[in-house]
Amino acid sequence: MSAPVLIVGAGLAGLFTALRLAPRPVLLVSPGPLGEGAASAWAQGGIAAAVGADDGPELHAEDTIAAGAGLVVEEAARVLCAEAPARIADLIALGVPFTRSGDGRLKPSREAAHSRARVLAVDGDRSGFAVMQALVAAIRRTPSVTVIEGHLLDDLIVTGGRVRGAILRARDGGPGLAVTAPATVLATGGIGGLYAVTTNPPGAIGAGLAVAARHGALIADPEFVQFHPTALAIGRDPAPLATEALRGEGAVLVTRDGRRLMQGVHPALDLAPRDVVARAVQAAILAGERAFLDGRTAPGPGFATHFPTVHAAAAAAGLDPARDLLPVAPAAHFHMGGLATDLSGRTSLPGLWAVGEVAATGVHGANRLASNSLLEAVVFGARAAEAIGRALHDAGHADAAITTLPPGPPAASDPVAIAALRRTMQERVGVVRDGEGLAAALAEIGPMRAGADPVLAAMADCAFLIAAAALLREESRGGHYRADRPLAGRTRRTLTTMTALDDALV
Ligand code: SIN
Repeated sequence: MSAPVLIVGAGLAGLFTALRLAPRPVLLVSPGPLGEGAASAWAQGGIAAAVGADDGPELHAEDTIAAGAGLVVEEAARVLCAEAPARIADLIALGVPFTRSGDGRLKPSREAAHSRARVLAVDGDRSGFAVMQALVAAIRRTPSVTVIEGHLLDDLIVTGGRVRGAILRARDGGPGLAVTAPATVLATGGIGGLYAVTTNPPGAIGAGLAVAARHGALIADPEFVQFHPTALAIGRDPAPLATEALRGEGAVLVTRDGRRLMQGVHPALDLAPRDVVARAVQAAILAGERAFLDGRTAPGPGFATHFPTVHAAAAAAGLDPARDLLPVAPAAHFHMGGLATDLSGRTSLPGLWAVGEVAATGVHGANRLASNSLLEAVVFGARAAEAIGRALHDAGHADAAITTLPPGPPAASDPVAIAALRRTMQERVGVVRDGEGLAAALAEIGPMRAGADPVLAAMADCAFLIAAAALLREESRGGHYRADRPLAGRTRRTLTTMTALDDALV
């Protein structure tokens, strides 16, 4: 088994990067069976791209920059939107059956904060699943990609200041692997699992971010976490998402006594920016009024056909969305911050690239525009593949070498401590934060970082990055809302390191 490129993580970004590197050999590491457990497969909305006759990449970029509340790297947003139509064409060529109108043209729909209909979906709310299905099939028929299943990132191999591969832990406690490779790509996803309420799969605990941060990688704006306003509050962990497209189709948020939740809060009502809606939902819950999504009139009878995933989740909890109100709560959904990269996915550590949610390319700023996340995965996955190809060509390359390590202890971790960490993040580093709560969170997280349990320690390191940066950002902006600093102040993207954050809080 040999390859010059190691990709750790097998969501959309990892798979697409591997395919774009073909026929260059790639080792692709998946935490479970290929295609399972990736947040990409759970995406309901779709992929944004300016494909309509009334639309264009410039307009898409303007919406992206406006949503990001002053922190978007404009050049990155322009690249994202300019390259979107070509990447959609790639996905179609790979077999993704985007919804089309009667005349065969792509049929984009509209979501909050988009000035045009530009979200391409598949099968109503099954977009991410369909995209992942097509890409997994493509990987299976691409001989240059060798898939290693059931392994998780434990550490990076760094010598002489250069990343030279990764240490992988077997999920089942079997032998681990040390893989050296000239180019290593992290595609390890987001951090939603650090929160008690999340729409992310359980593996989204910031493993790549924590490991790279410990080696000194530059981190961009880790305090910016997007909370989705409408996860179904039906006692499940993770909480099933009720896609924003439902509100796009006319569903509305109400309290238990039928009051329209968004009336008087924002002129765009139920289609206001996600952070605004999430705070309104949270406030109703804290006031004891609770919050519900009312889809009885719209989408009404079409609910099951157009939103089969949400319908099935509701039905499993004994709810019929055509007849019942659906209880909702805000849930950690997407990490706008992460490993700082350039426009080709390069991190600050030589030899290390990052793609997908673990990366902070700068396109999301303080608040991600709906359906730009899958797009970011394919646009910057393709750019990273191209840059890696060039780097390997220029340097001449050695292949990856794999050494089997002795079996380690099973990956299971202390569930009580992890639950405590997730509760702290939810309550003190969540939708609404303040200085006192953030300081208390940091005091609780500190001892967990130093503990012997490696999974908890990595989660706690990641939680530290978010909470520390949130304490230091003394303003409210986008997804970061401080009740004690409710106004926007400083307009700056912050590049930092774990050491700098530790030093700043001493
Ligand atoms: C949604 O469908 O509401 C989520 C889509 C996204 O996060 O962009």
